[in-house]
Amino acid sequence: MDISNRIRGFQASPIRRLSPYARAAKERGIKVYHLNIGQPDIKSPVEAIKAIHNYPNEIIAYGESDGDMELRKALVKYYHDNVGVDISVDDVLITTGGSEAILFSLMTLCDPGDEVIVPEPYYTNVHSFARMANVSIVSVTSLLEDNFALPPLKTIEEKITSKTRAILLNSPNNPTGHIYSPKELETILKMCEDHDIFLIVDEVYREFCYDGLSFTSILKYEQYAERVICIDSVSKRFSMCGARVGALISRNRNVIRETLKLSQARLCSPTVEQHASLAAFSAPPEYLESVKAEYEKRRNFIVKSLHSIPGVKCARPNGAFYLIARLPVEDAEDFAIFMLRDFDYKGETVMLAPAEGFYESKDLGRDQVRIAYVLNTDDLAKACTCLKEGLKAYNSRSN
Ligand SMILES: Cc1ncc(COP(=O)(O)O)c(C=O)c1O
Repeated sequence: MDISNRIRGFQASPIRRLSPYARAAKERGIKVYHLNIGQPDIKSPVEAIKAIHNYPNEIIAYGESDGDMELRKALVKYYHDNVGVDISVDDVLITTGGSEAILFSLMTLCDPGDEVIVPEPYYTNVHSFARMANVSIVSVTSLLEDNFALPPLKTIEEKITSKTRAILLNSPNNPTGHIYSPKELETILKMCEDHDIFLIVDEVYREFCYDGLSFTSILKYEQYAERVICIDSVSKRFSMCGARVGALISRNRNVIRETLKLSQARLCSPTVEQHASLAAFSAPPEYLESVKAEYEKRRNFIVKSLHSIPGVKCARPNGAFYLIARLPVEDAEDFAIFMLRDFDYKGETVMLAPAEGFYESKDLGRDQVRIAYVLNTDDLAKACTCLKEGLKAYNSRSN
């Protein structure tokens, strides 16, 4: 008996695949600071937690495939009030996390063998979604030295072939923290129009823009509305990652109508969690303001701390809650394993995500890690001390 060749082509998540080492470290009594995963320690809105405790129905029944109507209406209001965009409930499909919205977009836009252009490094699970949809990712490389700005448009345009169906952007970006400027977005949209392809923009971190930067949603460009899909989620906005509630938003009715077939096949997104998400949208504006301020404080802290470690380099992210750091090691995965398996500083260590798996091109990111600054500044300080001491120990060991 054999299993599929298809599954062999999938990669184990670089964010999670070192977890057995972390588990073993914890079993040895070592405290592990998790900088590997974007699981915020911020509380979800109290409104959402109360809604779960007070769930009014006696049956946890299937919901509508396109999502709870009240939640879709709440999203329409949120887009009007917070994003400055008018959409209608008919433009919204509730999905099981932003993850499903990405997968559904690829399934709807592409045939097997088609190509989607993605700037790398990119959110690593997209690799698996593309595999599920039998789509090839064609990467364009953005560089730490350029603060991960989009490469020149000519470089992107050169990658467009007769098989290209879409460009997929993520802004603010995981793993780089980069926010694409309105000018960059407009130029990309124009290029998509010239080549008659779609633009998918994953905006799940749109609330988290720092240094006074404002965010421009791709949905603002009404002229291009037909070729745009926007990916949304409550996971990061409301610290509700486990709720598994997201949305696919497009004013292209054909896209919505056809994607609904996929929604129907998976029946519905979680009903109790949609109820909780609806309540989360009623949280006062101070909730999001304070969460953003907290992440900005952490960003300032981690960038400063990393720069104080000899040999460590990172760009200054201005959004989301991740950054890519170059370490003074040859193989960041080997170092990340060392930190969990062979090292502790006063009974503590840190778990990092090797960045190689965030690149499509071979041999890029080997000396880089992705850091999620989702811990409070006290814990970040301890994690950075572990990293500094760990690098010293690792490099003296291999010399
Ligand atoms: C850029 C990006 N898009 C989508 C997702 C998936 O989000 P969700 O939890 O809504 O599926 C993540 C999760 O980390 C992400 O970083």
